[in-house]
Amino acid sequence: MSSMLEKARTYEKEHGDKIGSDERPAFHLTPWSGWMNDPNGFCRYQGQYHLFYQYNPYAAHWDRMHWGHAVSTDLLHWKYLPAALAPDGENDGAGCFSGSAVPLDDGRLLLMYTAVEERIENGEKRIYQTQNLAVGDGLNFEKYSGNPVLDSRDLPEGSSKEDFRDPKMLRLSDGSLACVIGSRPSDGSGQILFYTSEEGFHWNFKAVLDQNRNRFGKMWECPDFFQMDGRWVLLTSPQDMQQAGAEYHPGNGTTCFIGDFDEKTGKFTEACDQAIDYGIDFYAPQTLETPDGRRIMIGWMKNWDACAMRDPDAPWAGQMTLPRELEIRNDKLYQHPIAELSQYRIGKVQYKDLSVKDTVSLDGISGRCIDLEAEITAADEENPFYKFSIRFAEGNGHYTEFVFRPFEETVTADRSFCGSRRDLVHIRECLVPGTRDGHLKFRLILDRFSAELFLQDGEKVMTVTFFTEQEADRISFHAVGEARMDVVKYDLNL
Ligand code: FRU
Repeated sequence: MSSMLEKARTYEKEHGDKIGSDERPAFHLTPWSGWMNDPNGFCRYQGQYHLFYQYNPYAAHWDRMHWGHAVSTDLLHWKYLPAALAPDGENDGAGCFSGSAVPLDDGRLLLMYTAVEERIENGEKRIYQTQNLAVGDGLNFEKYSGNPVLDSRDLPEGSSKEDFRDPKMLRLSDGSLACVIGSRPSDGSGQILFYTSEEGFHWNFKAVLDQNRNRFGKMWECPDFFQMDGRWVLLTSPQDMQQAGAEYHPGNGTTCFIGDFDEKTGKFTEACDQAIDYGIDFYAPQTLETPDGRRIMIGWMKNWDACAMRDPDAPWAGQMTLPRELEIRNDKLYQHPIAELSQYRIGKVQYKDLSVKDTVSLDGISGRCIDLEAEITAADEENPFYKFSIRFAEGNGHYTEFVFRPFEETVTADRSFCGSRRDLVHIRECLVPGTRDGHLKFRLILDRFSAELFLQDGEKVMTVTFFTEQEADRISFHAVGEARMDVVKYDLNL
């Protein structure tokens, strides 16, 4: 093991173990110490789920990337393992960027990551990104002597050598391997490249899987590609998006393309596109398939443009989302909280057909780690209420809320009053078609520092983080006009 990796492992153990469990979320993964961004190498290996992550163990901000590592059997309780990769190689001194993992036939776990190298050429700093391998037993990994396995020679004509990153491997129907990688073609936007390999060590360029052509932001980061419900799905996280109607917000966004794929040619045909999450804090998701055939997605519960949200002195920065089960219905992506969560529900409190006018607080409905389901209808469907909102993490003048406005068919996430001292995006709106009559279903998952709202049985999801003091644990309902509500709430005991 290199001294750099050893140092990271010693540091994270010493500093990470000092962070009290109540200073972290109850069931969302945070870095052992320091900073985390993208999920990496999300896979199942030897009976456990492995999740690696972009990691700076030494401080709560981004720096030369390592790979942190955690394992779980239910995707909700995580155990930290020692850091897997450090930027200690000849060509990755500027960082081991995002990548993926697949179990090999010989029982080893193969990691593919982007090595970032800084070189001074003609007095100017140049960045080179190449794809590299490391192989291991699920705990320790050795960088492959044949690295890099893909470099600028494997790029289609005109593609950037600086923006070539985030390989996500998959198995094709004949058992061979493929991977999708983000790249920047000569039009300056993004494209996804498709490579194949028989055994994981020798890779060949096959095709340009999909091209941005400046439609969705610029560079496409962190692709994932898989087959589900008879369709092929390409997820990617575009940089530099511009607002596009109610679907896409400016900055770093996420897109899901649903379409068809020809394994022989490596060509993907887009049928439709949509954002993946309509809240504020979501980026760079990765998926895996469980042994019982469910496609599970986990994302970084933060976004580059909203990084100032956390106090730089905090002991950790960055969380992963709740693992979400994906489904394609009528060419739309649906997301559901992972089924395993339901087994940790306790203390059911239920109210049926309640009238909500002005402000309503309900006995037994409060808390910061809860699972709450509600169905809202209008007392008068012809003339529904003007707005309905649920406020949570409420106390001492602080709260975060979701606001439903039937006349606009929108739900808005608003954390303006959560106690943040930073002036950044605190409000985001999501269109929920078909709700003009005031009928809306939602499921809200709260952990200590986050809210994930699943609307209309998972048709849209909105994710926000906040750092309101934990004593603020009230929940209240508000309506302008009269709404009726069925609500059931559980505490999550994890
Ligand atoms: C996305 C990203 C990736 C890159 C990594 C670096 O959030 O920019 O493209 O591999 O973060 O940490």
